[in-house]
Amino acid sequence: MAILITGGAGFIGSHTCVELLNKGYDIIVVDNFSNSKPESLKRVCEITGKIIKIYQVDLLNRDLFEKVFIENKIDAVIHFAGLKAVGESVDYPLKYFKNNIASTIILCELMQKYKVKKLVFSSSATVYGMPESVPISEDFPLQALNPYGRTKLMIEAILQDLYISDNEWSISILRYFNPIGAHESGEIGEDPCGIPNNLLPYITKVAVGELKELQVFGKDYPTIDGTGVRDYIHVVDLAHGHVLALDKTLKASGVNIYNLGTGKGYSVLEVLSAFESTTGVNIPFKITQPRPGDAAVCYADPSKAENELNWTAKRSINDMCRDSWRWQSQNPNGYKKKQEIENPHLEQSEDFLIQNK
Ligand code: UFG
Repeated sequence: MAILITGGAGFIGSHTCVELLNKGYDIIVVDNFSNSKPESLKRVCEITGKIIKIYQVDLLNRDLFEKVFIENKIDAVIHFAGLKAVGESVDYPLKYFKNNIASTIILCELMQKYKVKKLVFSSSATVYGMPESVPISEDFPLQALNPYGRTKLMIEAILQDLYISDNEWSISILRYFNPIGAHESGEIGEDPCGIPNNLLPYITKVAVGELKELQVFGKDYPTIDGTGVRDYIHVVDLAHGHVLALDKTLKASGVNIYNLGTGKGYSVLEVLSAFESTTGVNIPFKITQPRPGDAAVCYADPSKAENELNWTAKRSINDMCRDSWRWQSQNPNGYKKKQEIENPHLEQSEDFLIQNK
C-alpha cells in the first residue's frame, strides 16, 4: 500500500513517515524543501531501515507534480505541505493563500483525476480562534484570527464541499493542538528557520546557548500562574494519530474531523519548570507584554479520536521536554551540516532526490 506524503520532510511529516514505515506502508514524499531539509528524510530511512521515494517538487508546479501520480500507484495521501507562520501570514496574506490553498486544489484535482480519493489533512486548533470555553470539542464555533488560520478553515470547507460533490471521497481532517517533542532516537526533530515563534523550540535554543533568554508573553491571563495555557502533544503520539486516521480513511468514506491533543493544559511557566527539572538546564526568562491574538487557555477534548480511532496521547510533558532536548542537544544546528555552517553558499549534492524536469 503506497501513501503519498506532501511536506513529508517537515517536523510532523518526518515523524509520521517513521510510524508509517514501521507499519509496513510504502511511502512517496513530495516536498519543495522551502522550510525543511532532505536530511530529515535520510534520517527517517536510517531509523527505520526502509527506503522512501522522494520527489523535490513544488505542489504549485502542476506538471511536475502530476508526474508523481503517473509514475506511482498511490492509494492515499497525507497532506502536510503548507506555510505555517502566523506572523508572516499577516504580512504576506497572498503568499499564504496561494501556497496553502492553490496547492491543495491542485492536489485534489490530481487525486480526482487519478482516482485516489482517500485523504488525511493536516489542520490546526487555530480554526477555533479564541475559544469561549475549554476543553474544545470538534463542534465548537470556528473562527480565523489571521490569514494562516483562514487557509486552514478554507481548506476544511473545500474538502467538505468536495465530499458533497462526490461521495467516494474519504477524508480525515486532523486538528492539532501544540506539537512538541521529538523521536526518541534524537535523530529527527523540529528545525525552525531563524528565530523560533513557538515556545518549545525557543526554550531549547536558549538551553543550547543560541538565544539569551525566553520572553514569556504576558502574566495576567486568568490561568493558574497568569501565563498562557496550551495542550502540548508529543509529535510521536501525533504521528500515531495519523496512522490510525489513515487506517480509518482507507476503510470508510465521508469527512471525519478529529482533535489531536492530550486534553491537558500547561502554562508557560509549568512547561519551563518541566523542562528545567527533566533536563537539569536552567532557562533564564523575562516576562513581557502579551502577544497580540494569543488566547489565554486552549486545550482539546480528544474523546472523539479516542472513541472512533482508538487513539490517545500516551507521552507526558516530561517526555516531551526530555525528547525535545535530546534532539536539540544532539543537533545544536538542526539538520545543517558542518560544511554548510562553515560555507553557507555551498550546495549539497542530494543525489537520492528525484528531481523531475
Ligand atoms: N510563548 C511565550 N514565549 C515565546 C513563545 C510562546 O511565552 O517565545 C507562549 C505563548 O504566548 C503561548 C504559549 O507560549 O501562551 C504557546 O505558544 P506557541 O507559539 O508555541 O503556540 P501557539 O499556541 O501560539 O500556536 C500554536 C501553533 C499555531 C497554531 C496555534 C493554534 O504554533 O500554528 O497553536 O492552534 F495556529
